[in-house]
Amino acid sequence: MPCRLIDGKALASKVRAEVAAEVSRLKAETGKVPGLVVVLVGEDPASQVYVRNKRKASDEVGFGGDIIRLPATTSQSELLDVLARLNADPAVHGILVQLPLPGQIDEQAVIEAIDPIKDVDGFHPYNAGLLAIGTPRFAPCTPSGIVRMLVESGVETRGARAVVLGRSQIVGKSMALLLMRKGPGADATVTVCHTATRDAASIAREADILIAAMGRPEAVRGDWIKPGAVVIDVGIHRRADGTLCGDVHQAEAEAVAGMLTPVPGGVGPMTIAMLLRNTLDAFKLTLK
Ligand code: GUN
Repeated sequence: MPCRLIDGKALASKVRAEVAAEVSRLKAETGKVPGLVVVLVGEDPASQVYVRNKRKASDEVGFGGDIIRLPATTSQSELLDVLARLNADPAVHGILVQLPLPGQIDEQAVIEAIDPIKDVDGFHPYNAGLLAIGTPRFAPCTPSGIVRMLVESGVETRGARAVVLGRSQIVGKSMALLLMRKGPGADATVTVCHTATRDAASIAREADILIAAMGRPEAVRGDWIKPGAVVIDVGIHRRADGTLCGDVHQAEAEAVAGMLTPVPGGVGPMTIAMLLRNTLDAFKLTLK
């Protein structure tokens, strides 16, 4: 059977359209709109692009909010003051501090300073804890986007053998927790592989659903994949010649997998779409 490519761009547009429709309905009912503030410290070029894209997507669905740009020399206490102000502002429902932060700032202290009810990245320990006990409120955007992709693509996760390559807090570990919880797009039997795993390839080959999130360009080769498996490629890397690739060797994977997310145009667009979804959910919590 030929491999089906999962179109993350089309699916992200669908999620964004759903969010936009709900925003206009809630605006008509309440006179209010969700507010998302993105905080950028310093001038990291990749972060500038991400932040611009996040705000643009947020404008397009009718959210309020803004970008707060702070100099690279900002101290931790200055950043904490900004967050205290945003936590107290009733027009702000979602706060996202773009990572990485300059070296003088303790990232974990910053994450913990965001009111968990406004933590639309899902990075605060309170939200990580809710995910760990199986009742997620704001799950990190990349893994929740992947769950949505699996559901929309008709992938049966219940009882499936899922293997997650990578144990980062933001993707691998959160992905594993989402897939093992109870409910639609979950109930999988999950194995997590990491840098100390012996023979990750043979474990990967057992997967019905293989999630590659180890951050190593084209590390997953065709012989890591069970014929017909669903392969989700979370990586994005720029090759020396300027082209992009993922953590999966796409040409080899296409010859073996049943479904595959392309890079670019797979998981990436879903991440911002889920940020919008989380921000809308944060807004709705304030209406209750
Ligand atoms: N830097 C890279 N990815 C992310 C993300 O999802 N959220 C934040 N806040 N920073 C990031």
